[in-house]
Amino acid sequence: MPEYTVEDVLVKLEALFISDASVCTTDLASDLQLEHQKVVGFMKSIQAAGDYISATDRVKVDVTLKPEGEGIAKNGSHEFVFWSNVPEEGITQGDAMKNIPNAKLGMGKALAAKWISKNKEDGKIYRAVKETPEDTIGNICKKVAAGQPLEAKELADAKKRKLVDEKKLTVFDLKKSAGFKTTVEKPETELTKELLANDAWKSKTFKEYNYNATGVRPPHGFLHPLLKLRSAYRNIFLEMGFEEMPTSNFVESSFWNFDALFQPQQHPARDAHDTFFLSEPASALNDPPADYLERVKNIHSHGGFDSKGYGYDWSKEEAMKNVLRTHTTAVSAKMLYKLAQQKEFKPTKYFSIDRVFRNETLDNTHLAEFHQVEGLIADYNVSLADLIGVLHTFFKKLGIEKLKFKPAYNPYTEPSMEIFSYHEGLKKWTEIGNSGMFRPEMLRPMGLPENVSVIAWGLSLERPAMIKYKMNNIRELCGYKYDLRNGQNASICRVDFERLRKTCPVRA
Ligand code: PHE
Repeated sequence: MPEYTVEDVLVKLEALFISDASVCTTDLASDLQLEHQKVVGFMKSIQAAGDYISATDRVKVDVTLKPEGEGIAKNGSHEFVFWSNVPEEGITQGDAMKNIPNAKLGMGKALAAKWISKNKEDGKIYRAVKETPEDTIGNICKKVAAGQPLEAKELADAKKRKLVDEKKLTVFDLKKSAGFKTTVEKPETELTKELLANDAWKSKTFKEYNYNATGVRPPHGFLHPLLKLRSAYRNIFLEMGFEEMPTSNFVESSFWNFDALFQPQQHPARDAHDTFFLSEPASALNDPPADYLERVKNIHSHGGFDSKGYGYDWSKEEAMKNVLRTHTTAVSAKMLYKLAQQKEFKPTKYFSIDRVFRNETLDNTHLAEFHQVEGLIADYNVSLADLIGVLHTFFKKLGIEKLKFKPAYNPYTEPSMEIFSYHEGLKKWTEIGNSGMFRPEMLRPMGLPENVSVIAWGLSLERPAMIKYKMNNIRELCGYKYDLRNGQNASICRVDFERLRKTCPVRA
């Protein structure tokens, strides 16, 4: 394709303006042998350079022949070809099909036009019209081939028989303006001291401001991908009528993190290999309420509330050891205890999304600190069936529909279930969370009524975030390897609420 400068195009335009008052960009394109789009680009540059031309746009419909249409333009319509090939003495259908091109179509159309007819007696086809009929469709195609415009009816006929393609194109009619010339001066982009000092500015043209240009992005903060996902989860809980628990204490006593949850003091998770213990202050400053502490001690050492307990010497000293909370279930325990202290029990739904800490070996999928999403429902006689139902509703809201549950073990829940979802990308079932019904050994010492049960579930925030933002290494999501530009570029985390509303109506 030839290369032109803006000035080359202006010279061409000047020549065209001599014979015509207005020049269409399609004509200019064929003159310059350029694509129309390129010519529109030149037009815009010329307009930006000053008052050279004016342009009015209009939509032009470009009609071109399809291959079948091209054939018809050359040979006539199928019906016309058929008619032409019917001899004086008639032709059998078999011979016609064998010898006449496009006979099937041609015969049908020629019969419909009554140009030919079938003799019932000898079964042959004869010309019904003796004089050469007018080949309307053939003529339409010939017109298109010759570049002549079609009448509306003709275009409709050609389209009906799928012989033409129609393309809409926005073209511009260009007219000469007062400032037309064949040279362009580079406009000044800045008013400088020099231009002012010697009055040169008076004879200069200045580049116009482009108010539509996208500016440089100003430097500012961005939400971390985890925070985006967190707010999506938060909205789901709020929509389902859950209240948020206060999770600002990263340090908890072992009592709330383990003992209140009926987790024995010899449990391996309490090992320094799994848990971060604080050295300063090593022990909690405030004791839990004395009567409750006593009931927890009893349930561990010799049971109660129909439980045999663990039968070991429970140590208050061990319980008072400060740890970085290993799960947000520590907060759930505190909140349930508070709930149990109210005069009258009120069914309650709580959630939290915050950070937890574990003394893990770091690798691509494990960090020493991560976020847990936790939800619980305390109500009269809630059952495992309720838990399964709520989990389906909850995950459906996240767009996860296929769930499976596998029996599991947690010291504080019975029964316990791991939650698996079918990962469409990986084409396999992957674990996405843990759940269960809190044990009476946890709830009864708190003072909750016997017929109140609590269903709960927890999951990490990082795993779905890694899936959503297609990351294989958790260290690229958190910590010093995190690329700040990710925050800037990460898409908004949206849940398809429209679809969800259709699939699972939310109760008010
Ligand atoms: N605390 C559990 C964990 O750390 C999650 C959980 C919460 C399990 C509530 C059951 C009930 O994995």
